[in-house]
Amino acid sequence: MHFFVFLPFLASLVLVLLADHRDPQHINHEIDDSEFCTYDGRIGHCEAILDCKREIPKKELFQRRHACSHVAYRETICCEMTGSIDYPGRIVGGDDTAPWEYPWMAALLTKSSNKRPFCGGSLISPVHVLTAAHCAKHILPDPTSFRVRIGEHNFDSELETDYRNFRVQNVSIHPNYTSSYTIKDDLAILELNASCMDKPRTVCLPEVPNDFRNHEAVVIGWGVTEAGKNQPPILQEVTVEVYPQVKCEEAYENFKITDSHLCAGIQENGGKDSCQGDSGGPLHVKLKGRWVQVGIVSFGIGCAEALHPGVYTNVSSYLSWIADVLDPYTLNDELCGESLEQDPKMFEDCPNGAVSSRSLIQALLPSLTIPILLFSISSSFLPSLAT
Ligand SMILES: *[C@@H]1O[C@H](CO)[C@@H](O)[C@H](O)[C@H]1NC(C)=O
Ligand SMILES: *[C@@H]1O[C@H](CO)[C@@H](O)[C@H](O)[C@H]1NC(C)=O
Ligand SMILES: *[C@@H]1O[C@H](CO)[C@@H](O)[C@H](O)[C@H]1NC(C)=O
Ligand SMILES: *[C@@H]1O[C@H](CO)[C@@H](O)[C@H](O)[C@H]1NC(C)=O
Repeated sequence: MHFFVFLPFLASLVLVLLADHRDPQHINHEIDDSEFCTYDGRIGHCEAILDCKREIPKKELFQRRHACSHVAYRETICCEMTGSIDYPGRIVGGDDTAPWEYPWMAALLTKSSNKRPFCGGSLISPVHVLTAAHCAKHILPDPTSFRVRIGEHNFDSELETDYRNFRVQNVSIHPNYTSSYTIKDDLAILELNASCMDKPRTVCLPEVPNDFRNHEAVVIGWGVTEAGKNQPPILQEVTVEVYPQVKCEEAYENFKITDSHLCAGIQENGGKDSCQGDSGGPLHVKLKGRWVQVGIVSFGIGCAEALHPGVYTNVSSYLSWIADVLDPYTLNDELCGESLEQDPKMFEDCPNGAVSSRSLIQALLPSLTIPILLFSISSSFLPSLAT
């Protein structure tokens, strides 16, 4: 009994420790006992029942007295704060990608800090980047303070790929995006000022809604590779498996997982190697030699945890909304989803002004090699990685 209570508690603790330090809401966020008030030890606040605007599961009602005391004459209950935590996505047990292996990968940067992205995204048209709503919500209030970089591979090296920074012209967050109690409809589309991209390398999206359970999928991102470590400079990739829906629901019992969510991780071997990519980044499967994006990194409890796979936005569920936002651009051009071995030269007509950080001195210095500590990845997953 204690064991079961303790484990989720630990997970919550890890979560709090990892809570995105970039989210201003959580700076100096004090942790006190009442924050671990859910019956299974997750994070919440004790609030008056009437103020807690969500459905309360019966077993939680039953156990509420263990955690939340009566405040005056009002009965309080634990109101979960799942949505208010920005889960820092991270690739655990991953591998360096090759330059241009995933040329659609987008890095979301703040104008003032362009050394590592705070979120990922994927190019789905010459001017549109698909990402998570919880990433885009940071951009929405002041898009001019952000940049989207396409073509980056190694943030600590200036010469290995050609990249461009673009401005965000429009932010479309899914109208039903919710981040309280559960996180749902966590997707958004950023429109870039990228009229110059003649040969954009986009990722494919599913042609029709489809079920991708039991598919092997690859998630990519610049998220941290281990708790407490810095983000790696080189784009990481890791292979995971898309869970059957019922397993996803079991793993996140209280999160109201629906068909519009998708879970991916490593089901066997205790999940030591399972991972989650940078928030907003793509999870894709290879179909007929092309990469098709099936998920957007959304949230998870901890990382590399057997019981808690990463949760993704199920792209198949949103194809018509995405198509509407993209109009008049269309999805899935004939070049979509191809890994490349060389620079696709998609920026030939793009002004280079945005890349002000490129200085000769930087370019001449050998790039700083930061050793990346990786958890072991079971070798059975390695051969399936695209090269
Ligand atoms: C931004 O995108 C929305 C669609 O999501 C569209 O209705 C709106 O007109 C766009 N605004 C601009 C300034 O392009
Ligand atoms: C948002 O939710 C409402 C109510 O469930 C639904 O009718 C509507 O179609 C949803 N909007 C989108 C863009 O899916
Ligand atoms: C994702 O959405 C599609 C279409 O709504 C659905 O068929 C599928 O079961 C969902 N889940 C997975 C894991 O693909
Ligand atoms: C897009 O915005 C960037 C950053 O402000 C600017 O340097 C670049 O010239 C713009 N590109 C186009 C095609 O307008």
